[in-house]
Amino acid sequence: MPLTRKAYRAAILHSLADPAEVGVDASYEYFEDGLLVIENGRISALGHAGDLLPSLPADIDITHYQDALITPGLIDTHIHLPQTGMVGAYGEQLLDWLNTYTFPCESQFADKAHAEEVADIFIKELLRNGTTTALVFGSVHPQSVNAFFEAAEKLDLRMIAGKVMMDRNAPDYLTDTAESGYQQSKALIERWHGKGRLHYAVTPRFAPTSTPEQLARAGQLLGEYPDLYMQTHISENKQEVEWVKALFPERNGYLDVYDHYKLLGERSVFAHGVHLCDDECARLAETGSAVAFCPTSNLFLGSGLFNLPMAEKHKLNVGLGTDVGGGTSFSLLQTLNEAYKVMQLQGARLSPFKSLYLATLGGARALRLEDKIGTLQPGTDADFIVLDYNATPLLSYRLKQANNIAETLFVLMTLGDDRTVLQTYAAGNRVHQR
Ligand code: GUN
Ligand code: ZN
Repeated sequence: MPLTRKAYRAAILHSLADPAEVGVDASYEYFEDGLLVIENGRISALGHAGDLLPSLPADIDITHYQDALITPGLIDTHIHLPQTGMVGAYGEQLLDWLNTYTFPCESQFADKAHAEEVADIFIKELLRNGTTTALVFGSVHPQSVNAFFEAAEKLDLRMIAGKVMMDRNAPDYLTDTAESGYQQSKALIERWHGKGRLHYAVTPRFAPTSTPEQLARAGQLLGEYPDLYMQTHISENKQEVEWVKALFPERNGYLDVYDHYKLLGERSVFAHGVHLCDDECARLAETGSAVAFCPTSNLFLGSGLFNLPMAEKHKLNVGLGTDVGGGTSFSLLQTLNEAYKVMQLQGARLSPFKSLYLATLGGARALRLEDKIGTLQPGTDADFIVLDYNATPLLSYRLKQANNIAETLFVLMTLGDDRTVLQTYAAGNRVHQR
């Protein structure tokens, strides 16, 4: 294959570390006039345009953007494919919301054609919003995951997904069994895990909808294949937490249920964690598990305020999740807008560089993929986005008053959304153009 080398010139920004660990100033790298060089789907160089240009061949293809910022592709560590059709459902908190809106909507995925149609809409929506990697819940139907991975594979996207395992406390039309959930997951793992840039996540929905037998089978799968992911929900809503205590009286709280069935580990991502206690954060951190912080969902469903400072105290890996359809936007920029307010309501601050970290390198670390995505370091996948400073008249005017990259970044996260994403690149290919 001939070598394909391209360069992109613009302002360029990426995270280097968690600001909570190294301080804000050492947490990022910014090039006001930067150059990003891509070779065969990977980043081969990053630096100041003035430094790099002389070393490049005179005929190299360079795309030069004015009034734009290149950052790594955004990483959504928690989202539901089969809830695309029910974003913004009125009036309920978690448990009633699941029964009233979620389960009926997910039941439509029994139809393969429906699964394929929504997978297509869903992936386009991710890319329009600058999300290049997501950790995705399918429905209980294996075809939801097949449809998603087939569409992702065509675009060579780095994606992680799994079929929901759910064998109780849900309508009959939407349950598997401990045995069928195990066998169906296994078949999907064999077909997809490690194929191209795709990875599989064992996906018990949450403790209330799995029997002890099913949770044990989920843990068994994790022991049978290397590098599998595990995703589930935890401590999102107070009624939910009480229900888990009633269902598993022999266990020492919600996290201990998952711990008992061997579901904690370096590739385990627990969504929400709004009502986790100190000891549970410590145990999550100790096992290398991660939490997906889902602020738009936590506000929309009235679940509560995630305690990010407590997670930081325990050095717990935290990524950002939209949690569509409990969350109300596919945009991780809008998700950061709400994250800022969640911190404000707790008397805490969320710096724009911490926000950048959460949506990029933090997410990559939560997924143990920081050697491949989440930064623009040479050697990593060429998954990046171009943000347009003139996306809307207000953004354009407002950014003219910004004095430095910190202010610019904060305004992008406050006013920005899908309109702000001019282009999205995955493995060096342009996969979205506004
Ligand atoms: N807990 C169990 N299932 C779900 C779900 O689909 N969405 C959210 N937000 N929480 C859950
Ligand atoms: Zn969720």
